[in-house]
Amino acid sequence: MLDVADVHTYYGEGYVLQGVSLTVEPASIVAVLGRNGVGKTTLIRTVIAFTPARRGRVMFEDRDITRWPSYRIAKAGMGLVPQGRRIFPSLSVRENLEIAQRAAATDIAEPWSLGRVLDLFPALAERLRNGAGTLSGGEQQMLTVARALVGNPRLLLMDEPTEGLSPHIVAEMKKLVVGLRARGMAILLVEQNLAFALDVADRVHVMDKGKIVFGGTPAELDADETIKKTYLGV
Ligand SMILES: Nc1ncnc2c1ncn2[C@@H]1O[C@H](COP(=O)(O)OP(=O)(O)OP(=O)(O)O)[C@@H](O)[C@H]1O
Ligand SMILES: [Mg+2]
Repeated sequence: MLDVADVHTYYGEGYVLQGVSLTVEPASIVAVLGRNGVGKTTLIRTVIAFTPARRGRVMFEDRDITRWPSYRIAKAGMGLVPQGRRIFPSLSVRENLEIAQRAAATDIAEPWSLGRVLDLFPALAERLRNGAGTLSGGEQQMLTVARALVGNPRLLLMDEPTEGLSPHIVAEMKKLVVGLRARGMAILLVEQNLAFALDVADRVHVMDKGKIVFGGTPAELDADETIKKTYLGV
């Protein structure tokens, strides 16, 4: 579904991603872990071409999207749950979702109608007319996921979706991503929450200073005390 091959990404002269490769299979969750500033968000920005790779290649369902404009990648079936939520606080919940629907992918067998998405988020369904800025942090995070889903993605990029959430909401997020995978969704998940990533992911990668320093199953990472201590501080 997604094949990131040896990408090198810069901000001006700042050399951030230094040859990153990974793949995401359909209906699977691949997690990327790493400390602050190692390049996790830059990897997501590279995949969706906000900051395209200067070298290397990103393939999405066998199309080379490395230098496609981001809106075209989104329309092709890639959804983004950005770090820090980025909802429109002055718009209502419904308006936040309707804006995202305008850019939805259309070539999909079972589109995510508003009704189908809201079935997953009963708390949002009750607050459609409320200002999005009045929602709790957990509800705002659920809104960013709902907003991505109405775009009909087959691959979801999630950038630290559990950041700042209470354990109760983290547990809800876990059910949600596992449920999405069961419906066939592929997810590239960037996280600092090791326990969450180990719980939900099929494969995990650890990043440090723009490079992948570990790749394996959650069980293999959990057993590797050196990697956990050196790169994740646990
Ligand atoms: N727009 C930008 N311009 C210049 N440098 C940037 C920009 N965004 C990020 N960087 C730098 O690139 C490096 C990687 O940042 P990135 O945001 O990808 O890290 P991260 O792993 O997502 O961190 P965090 O866990 O804090 O979100 C950092 O050194 C950061 O300062
Ligand atoms: Mg980040």
